Amino acid sequence: MSTVNVKNAVREKYGQAALDVRKAVSCCGSEPSCGCGDPITSNLYDASESSAVPAEAMLASLGCGNPTSLAELKPGEIVLDLGSGGGIDVLLSARRVAPTGKAYGLDMTDEMLALARENQRKSGVENVEFLKGEIENIPLPDNSVDVVISNCVINLSGDKDRALQEAFRVLKRGGRLAVSDVITRGEVPESVRRDMLLWVGCIAGALRDTEYVSKLNEAGFERISIEPTRVYDIEDARVFLSGKGVDVDAVAPQVEGKFISGFVRAVKPEH
Ligand SMILES: C[S@@+](CC[C@H](N)C(=O)[O-])C[C@H]1O[C@@H](n2cnc3c(N)ncnc32)[C@H](O)[C@@H]1O
Repeated sequence: MSTVNVKNAVREKYGQAALDVRKAVSCCGSEPSCGCGDPITSNLYDASESSAVPAEAMLASLGCGNPTSLAELKPGEIVLDLGSGGGIDVLLSARRVAPTGKAYGLDMTDEMLALARENQRKSGVENVEFLKGEIENIPLPDNSVDVVISNCVINLSGDKDRALQEAFRVLKRGGRLAVSDVITRGEVPESVRRDMLLWVGCIAGALRDTEYVSKLNEAGFERISIEPTRVYDIEDARVFLSGKGVDVDAVAPQVEGKFISGFVRAVKPEH
């Protein structure tokens, strides 16, 4: 798929997801429209976090980790969330960096931005700004951000090198990258990889751990690490894969332990 087609497919998918959240809340109380029971997106936040944001922000949570809790944010810091969706990580970050810090959310999908701004209004958090734009062309100046977070978005980018270079550019010297993402480990046959990533919803394809590290290195980052936060089981994907005609028992050994959500840390050098 070309980069433009990837962007259009992603915009359409997440535009619809934002509309579904609004519909679920307006017609059925707080019934989740998506993500409920999903092995990737469910149970990422503890009770104190979920009670600190509007129900619509929780319902729109489509990440695969909890970068805000792992990023060790401090009061006064400037945070940027790449692909902020319904705004959950931006709102949680804003509280952690308050009162003098600020959290930016960046997203390219109008419906998600509208939902995020509505969630900000409902939560009454002021040190937040949602920006429209693409993670491959971040609309912020060089060296302006202390921490770049992101939750399950880099895997959706058709130009991951450019997205990581842009994160590096906007970070201040010594600034941190703290990203949750779907990542693969070890050798996986191409067809198995394709089917599993369709299950995960990674339209543009997840990176292998070694590729992630080398792309971060090439972008200029140092102190790079990847910490697995969830390892997906073939059983999680059985119904989906069977529906696509895949012989699940035959491919199980090629999947075991190879598809994970991970927390990616890296630092922009001080000098
Ligand atoms: C999987 S959702 C994650 C949303 C949010 N981070 C969360 O944890 O709920 C992906 C979001 O990233 C946005 N997105 C995907 N690719 C993007 C890109 N290249 N530039 C800007 N936003 C993008 C989508 O519009 C969508 O809102």
